Amino acid sequence: MSCELSETATPEDFARPRWVGQPDVLERAQRLSQKFEEAYGRAPVGVWAAPGRANLMGEYVDFSGGMCLPFAHQYVTLTVAAPREDGVLNAQSMQDADESVADDRPRSTRIDDIEPGVISGWFGYVAGVAWGMNRVARGASAHPVAVPELGLPTSFGADLMVDSTVPIGAGLASSAALECSVALSLFSLNTGNDHPNDALRRALARACMDAENYIVGANTGGLDQTASLRSHAGEILALDCRDFDVVRLPADPALAGLTWLAIDTRAPHKLADGQYSSRRAECEAAAAVLDVPTLRDALPEHPTPDDAAAVLDRFDHLLEVGAELTEDRENTRLRLRHSMTEMVRSVQIADELHSDSPDWAFVGRLLVEGHESMRDDCEVTVPELDAAVDGCLSAGALGAKVVGGGFGGSVIALVSLESVDRLAAAVQLCFAQNGFREPLFLTLQPSEAGRRIL
Ligand code: GLA
Repeated sequence: MSCELSETATPEDFARPRWVGQPDVLERAQRLSQKFEEAYGRAPVGVWAAPGRANLMGEYVDFSGGMCLPFAHQYVTLTVAAPREDGVLNAQSMQDADESVADDRPRSTRIDDIEPGVISGWFGYVAGVAWGMNRVARGASAHPVAVPELGLPTSFGADLMVDSTVPIGAGLASSAALECSVALSLFSLNTGNDHPNDALRRALARACMDAENYIVGANTGGLDQTASLRSHAGEILALDCRDFDVVRLPADPALAGLTWLAIDTRAPHKLADGQYSSRRAECEAAAAVLDVPTLRDALPEHPTPDDAAAVLDRFDHLLEVGAELTEDRENTRLRLRHSMTEMVRSVQIADELHSDSPDWAFVGRLLVEGHESMRDDCEVTVPELDAAVDGCLSAGALGAKVVGGGFGGSVIALVSLESVDRLAAAVQLCFAQNGFREPLFLTLQPSEAGRRIL
């Protein structure tokens, strides 16, 4: 990425990197409770918080059954709530939860009336969760069993007020944080259970996925919701998206003097929804050529780089002998190559993090390979993301990569604690020289999953 000075920006304009401060969750919760009282004329009964996530590896593979390596970070969305007995769900937001709909009007629906296609904007992430919970409860979703505890009786309703400390649209899973904090609040109001176990959290994550897939209409794969609801502080999740089983990896880079730096590029992301769906469609088309239910099934249990290469050879051969392909051939092959190598990288990092003293330099190199694959094969990066990675690496980061769905959003970098400020300044300068918007910097800590906080 070139760092030549543009005509419009000089390094002096961007002298000091802008840091997003640590969220003061309790203070925000109290303020939000006050807002709730003003809006609804009564006191709330509780406050629930759910975090966004970062992801070390396993991008664009959750919907193909691959392994992801997320952790929940410390930025949360808060839901303040009280129950109703008339089947109505009301919600208000302290911000525009959906960048495309500048809309913080109070929203309302009967829970019984929620169905695909009727709810617009940010309220889809809220109402969709109630719909998803009922769906999982009656066994109508892809969750392996019906989970009746999630069902909301016809008379159940709630008043909600939401607020987020997760940077919105930054690729750090603000949507999942909203869904998951709403899910925990509705579940707890309805059942009185403030401490759902992992099995219930897994079912709630599915309800949130269903909200996103069917009510919001985003064809995403469950990585974000699982991380938000099932992470533990200080741990990375090894999430097997075939069945959403998790293995917890207590991997703390601070023990090696390292930390996770996130750079929110603030790059405008247009067309992202259609692009995400087309990537998924190409992966599904590749699976159809290979005659496997999902791309994960094309690899053995413990895949190696050779296995990934063999799948590509097989794909080429099948097309040569006349297999039908519903998507563009070159794009599909690139997405397949990304999926295969990404699934292998996830396994390699998970193996490394199992060790008592992981080789973080090795992990860092894989992060960079992951970014290159997202750039060249998945084709979801933008110049700002590539510049942020290059800037981090040239200033001494062990590794850096785009996090989440791309087309804007954030990069995470593995950096030594003492180099954080120097690194941020280098990226800041690189952005200034390229005439990009000023980025935001955050340090991320693997944090606990969603929970009731008041
Ligand atoms: C978004 C989606 C996830 C996942 C990532 C890419 O965050 O919500 O399901 O596909 O993109 O890894």
